[in-house]
Amino acid sequence: MTTTTGEQARKIAEGLGHSHGFGNEHSSEAVPGALPHGRNAPQRAPLGLYAEQLSGSAFTEPRADNRRSWLYRIRPSAAHPPFARTDNGHLRSAPFTESVPDPNRLRWNPLPEPPAGTDWLAGLWTLGGNGDATQRTGMAVHLYHANSSMESRVFSDADGELLIVPERGGLLVRTELGLLAARPGEVALIPRGVRFRVELLDESARGYVCENYGRPFELPELGPIGANGLANARDFRAPVAAYEDVEGPVEVVNKFCGNLWTATYDHSPLDVVAWHGTHTPYVYDLHTFNVIGTISYDHPDPSIFTVLTSPSDTPGLAGVDFVVFAPRWLVGEDTFRPPYFHRNVMSEYMGLIEGAYDAKAEGFVPGGGSLHNMMSAHGPDRETFDRASAAELKPQKIDDGLAFMFETRWPVTATEQAATADHLQRGYDEVWQGLQRHFRS
Ligand SMILES: [Fe+2]
Repeated sequence: MTTTTGEQARKIAEGLGHSHGFGNEHSSEAVPGALPHGRNAPQRAPLGLYAEQLSGSAFTEPRADNRRSWLYRIRPSAAHPPFARTDNGHLRSAPFTESVPDPNRLRWNPLPEPPAGTDWLAGLWTLGGNGDATQRTGMAVHLYHANSSMESRVFSDADGELLIVPERGGLLVRTELGLLAARPGEVALIPRGVRFRVELLDESARGYVCENYGRPFELPELGPIGANGLANARDFRAPVAAYEDVEGPVEVVNKFCGNLWTATYDHSPLDVVAWHGTHTPYVYDLHTFNVIGTISYDHPDPSIFTVLTSPSDTPGLAGVDFVVFAPRWLVGEDTFRPPYFHRNVMSEYMGLIEGAYDAKAEGFVPGGGSLHNMMSAHGPDRETFDRASAAELKPQKIDDGLAFMFETRWPVTATEQAATADHLQRGYDEVWQGLQRHFRS
């Protein structure tokens, strides 16, 4: 199996080709003639390859929701030995029953340094989540901290898709459908069931993962915004086909109904020579997000910053939204400009990729995160409130931070390791202490 050094991985990452457009019917072949034309499953697939369909939605779901790809590979996926249970490490899964849901506002510092030799998979650490992986509902929040590339092993998640949000260090993600590079400020979306291996572009890598058990992420409707705006479909990059023709032991780790299972193959399963379809990984640069906000007064709800949404059966009610607070101008007149005080039926996990967030003066740091569960009261801290209430309202550029939110319809129950972690901040409530009464009757 190919394992690269950081420098080799960086060179590969710089030269990657892409196929643009979220939700497109992409197609790609690493060897000319490998992709059949006019049919998906010819009697004999080209070049002696095996044809195999990978379904990310039920066969019968509407066209707009249907996700599937046809893979043309050296060996069919069915040719594998039995899987056996392996240790889950710090990975946990829904339903989350280790702790009781906590109404308190919680905030964490970044994950501590892991032991040397920790790869991306071993470095996954679950903060919490909701729903039930076996019912394909809900989501989980994971963090990762790794200092080693995955070597001779690949991972796939039958429980959901993975939205990877690097915060420190770039990743080279080798998937069945090709290679993607995701650096801090970019996100990678790995569909349910797609096998992949993560190599590091730098000494170490740290970041966040939203595991979405529910319907696949899609772009939000734009309504009166019109035909353009927010995350534009053309800015999502799918990989082009790239394959490994490698004989030799490769560990394949499969997350299935909350547990990790492992099998040792006699070849690399990243052996797809050509493919076409809609069930494909993507990478997206958050700096290309078209931020929309007020040009008069107040500001829209933060849903205006939604990059991707996983819809539920109830219109407008997401299983989980991925929301980004990207650099933007604030121009609202007679307006309290930072995010307002509120209580929300949805539950909010927030993380910080770089810089600072305009509602928190301190304590919310890159690599850390906060959890404001259903109906918990939150908003600007005292220092931010005092400053913003007195600020001169000239046009102001917020350009030193990149924060994001996983906003979900159900409360997020923290894992035991998150609820008792040394890096859980004690005394987070204090940021709202000292907000003075100003009422005059
Ligand atoms: Fe909020």
